[in-house]
Amino acid sequence: MSDSVIEIRNLSKVYRDFWGRSKVKALNSLSLDVKRGEIFGLLGPNGSGKTTTLKLLLGLLFPSEGQVRILGQPAHDVEKNERIGYLPEESYLYRFLNADETLEFYGRLFKMSKAERRKRSDELIKRVGLDQARRRQLKEYSKGMTRRIGLAQALINDPELVLLDEPTSGLDPLGTRDMKDMILKLRDEGKTVVMCSHLLADVQDVCDRIAILFRGELKVIGNVQELLSSNDETQLLTSTLSEEAIRDVKETLKKHGADVKNISHPTSTLEDLFLRTVAESEARPGRRFEPGERPTSESA
Ligand SMILES: Nc1ncnc2c1ncn2[C@@H]1O[C@H](COP(=O)(O)OP(=O)(O)OP(=O)(O)O)[C@@H](O)[C@H]1O
Ligand SMILES: [Mg+2]
Repeated sequence: MSDSVIEIRNLSKVYRDFWGRSKVKALNSLSLDVKRGEIFGLLGPNGSGKTTTLKLLLGLLFPSEGQVRILGQPAHDVEKNERIGYLPEESYLYRFLNADETLEFYGRLFKMSKAERRKRSDELIKRVGLDQARRRQLKEYSKGMTRRIGLAQALINDPELVLLDEPTSGLDPLGTRDMKDMILKLRDEGKTVVMCSHLLADVQDVCDRIAILFRGELKVIGNVQELLSSNDETQLLTSTLSEEAIRDVKETLKKHGADVKNISHPTSTLEDLFLRTVAESEARPGRRFEPGERPTSESA
C-alpha cells in the first residue's frame, strides 16, 4: 500500500462565470504528495489557491484539469469524506445550538450510536477547552471559541486525515499555542494533517513539510528544517562573555580560519515573551514589570 494519503497530479482550477467564460486561474498544474502521518503546510499569500486546493481534495469543487487521489479514492468519491475531518475558513455552524448540541448534530450525520456520540463529544469539548461554555449558544461565542468548536466538529468522526483551513486565524497567542498543541497531538495519534495558513510562525512550529503557492503555482516544497537550515554557518550560544573573553574567542576562531559574523545577545520571539508574560501574570496577580524588566522562563 502506498504511504501517500494524498496524490495530486497536474491539478488546475479555473473559476468560470455564469456564462462559462473563464475568470480566474486559481490553480495551475499543481502536483504534490502528502505522506501518511505528517503535518503538511500549504502556504501562500491571499488568493494563491490554498482554500481552492482543500476544496478540490474534498470534492466540493471539480478540477478543470488533473487528478486527485485521497485515501486511495478519487476526490469526487464522497464516501471517503467519512474518513476526513474539515475545518473550513469561515464558520458555518448553527448559531442557535450550543457546543453539546452541535457535536450531537454532526455525530448523527456520521451515523454514530448515541453512546458513542456522547462519549466522543464530551471528550472533544474538554480537549478543545470549551467545558465551561458547553451550554452556551454559539452565537455568544468569541472568535477563538468558534474556532475551537470548529475543530471539535472536524474531529467528531475520528478522521484519519484532517484538513484545516487557517486553524489559528483570529486566535490570541494562548489560543494559537493551544491550537498548535492540538494539531501536534493529532500527529502523535497517527493522523495526517494538511493545514493552510499565511501565519509563518505557526506553520514553522508545527509542520513537517510545506509547499509555498504563489498565484496558483507551486514555488517551493520540502522539509521545513531542511528549507530553513543554513549549512555554511555555526551558531554558538554561551553565558555572558567579558570583553577580554570575546577578544580571546575571536583570536581562537581566527586561528581556525573562521569569520565572526555577529556577536550579540540573543533575542527571543515575541510569542515567547507574550506567553511568559501571561503565565507570570497568572501565577502572580498584581505583579507589574518595571520598564526594561522581562519575565524569564524561570519566573513564569
Ligand atoms: N467561487 C469563486 N469564484 C471565482 N473566483 C474564486 C472563487 N473562489 C476563489 N476564487 C479565486 O481563486 C483564487 C484563489 O482563491 P483561494 O480562496 O483558493 O485563495 P487562498 O490562498 O485560500 O487565499 P486566502 O489566504 O485569502 O484565504 C483567488 O483569485 C480568488 O479570487
Ligand atoms: Mg483561503
